[in-house]
Amino acid sequence: MIALIIGNGGREHALAWKISQAPNVSKVYVAPGNGGTATADSIIENIDLIEFDDLVKFAKEKRVDLTIVGPEIPLSNGLVDYFQKNGLKIFGPTQKAAQLESSKDFAKKFMVKHGIPTAEHQTFSDIQLAHDYVELKGAPIVIKADGLAAGKGVVVALTLKEAHDAIDSMLSKNIFGDAGAQVVIEEFLDGEEVSFIAICDGETVLPLASSQDHKRLQDDDLGPNTGGMGAYSPAPIVTDEMHEKIMKQVITPTIEGMKKDGVIFKGFLYAGLMINADKQIKTLEFNCRMGDPETQPILFRLKSNLYDILLAATDNNLSDFTAEWEDVYSITVVMASHNYPSKPRLNDEIHIPLMVNENCFIFHAGTKLKDNKTLTSGGRVLGVTAKAKSLQEAKNIVYKFIQDIKFDGAQFRKDIGKKALDNYDSIKSS
Ligand code: AMP
Ligand code: GLY
Repeated sequence: MIALIIGNGGREHALAWKISQAPNVSKVYVAPGNGGTATADSIIENIDLIEFDDLVKFAKEKRVDLTIVGPEIPLSNGLVDYFQKNGLKIFGPTQKAAQLESSKDFAKKFMVKHGIPTAEHQTFSDIQLAHDYVELKGAPIVIKADGLAAGKGVVVALTLKEAHDAIDSMLSKNIFGDAGAQVVIEEFLDGEEVSFIAICDGETVLPLASSQDHKRLQDDDLGPNTGGMGAYSPAPIVTDEMHEKIMKQVITPTIEGMKKDGVIFKGFLYAGLMINADKQIKTLEFNCRMGDPETQPILFRLKSNLYDILLAATDNNLSDFTAEWEDVYSITVVMASHNYPSKPRLNDEIHIPLMVNENCFIFHAGTKLKDNKTLTSGGRVLGVTAKAKSLQEAKNIVYKFIQDIKFDGAQFRKDIGKKALDNYDSIKSS
C-alpha cells in the first residue's frame, strides 16, 4: 500500500512514522514534509508539492492508495472534495464538514442547535455592539476570531481593557484579516482542558486515547497562547466514566447532528474540552484534524495498524476495528525557536545527538535540511517524545534527552505533565 500525507509539521512526521510501520505499507510520501521526514527511513519520502492539481496528479501517477490530510487549511480549502472528485481515496472531512473548525460561529450555532454543552456566547461583526457586550458581561471574558488563525485567534481577556483591545485589533485593525471579520465573544470557563480525538467514518466513531495539551508559551500557563508547547497521553482526568460522558454529550451528538444537518462527517474529530471542578464538560472548540502536538504522544502509544484503521474509515468500515494502546504514559515536549510565537527566527542550526531508542523519539516540525545540516524553519521545531510505565518516568526521560539537543534561542517548557503529577497522586512513579 502507498500512502500520501499532506502537511509539514510534527503531527505529520508522527503520522508518517506510524503509518510506515504498518506491515502492508511499502511507501509513505509526505507533501511537503520537513527535515525529519526527509531523513527518516527509506519508506518515507518528501515531495515538494502543495498545489491541489499537482497533488492529484502525483497521487494518480504513483498509484497512491490513501491520502491523509494533516492540517486544517487544506481541509477548509476543499482538498478532500477535490481528491474525491478525481476518484482518489482521501481521509478527512469535506470543506462543508470542516466548517466545524473553520468557523467558530458555525461551530457555536451547531452546538446550540444540537444541545452540545459549550460556553455561552454571542457573535459580532459590529465593533460598537461587541464593546457594549463586553461592558455588560465584564471580565474575564474570551474573544475569538471566527476563522482560522493558527491557534493565535483567541484572547482570554482577564481585564476589560484586554477585551476591548482584542476587539479593536480584530474588528478594526484586522490583524487576522477575513478570519477576524467576525468575533465570537464567550463566557470564561475555568477548569482542566482535555483533547479528545476520534476517528469517524460518518457513522461509527473510534475514540483515540485521551491527551492534554499545554497551550501557553511559558511554565505555569503563563505567556501567550501558542499552537501547543507539549502534551501527554493519557489524560488522567479522562476516567472510564468521563470517557463515556464525553462520548455521550459531545462526540456522538456531533456526528449525529452533522448527519441530521445533511453533512457526513468523516475524518478526525478533535473536541477541545474544559472540565470543571464539578466534572461538567463544556466544548471549547472543534478541530477537524488531529492535534499538534497531541498526535505525537498519542501515536507513540498506539499498537494497532493505523493505515488499516484510516482506510477502513474512508471506506465506511470502521465498525470492524478497535484501537489497541500500550499501557504506558507518553509525553512530548515541544522545542520552539527564538521569538516564537510572535516572530520566530529561522535558520538556526540544530544539533541532535543520535540516541533515539524505542522509548524515545524526536518528531520534527519546523526543520529543514540544507547542505547536510538541519536548520530551524518554523516556530515549533521539535517534539521530543518519550514513553514509560509512569508519567513521572516518561517526564524524566524526555527532559534528560532534551539536554543534549541544542539550537540557538531554543525555548521549551519545563513543566509539561506537572499539573497531572501534582493533581493525580495515583499516577506518580511507584
Ligand atoms: P480555542 O482555539 O477555542 O480552543 O481556544 C484556544 C485556547 O484558549 C483554549 O485551548 C483555552 O486554553 C483557551 N480558551 C478558549 N475558550 C475559552 C473559554 N471560554 N474559557 C477559558 N479559556 C478558553
Ligand atoms: N494543539 C492544539 C491543536 O492542535 O489545535
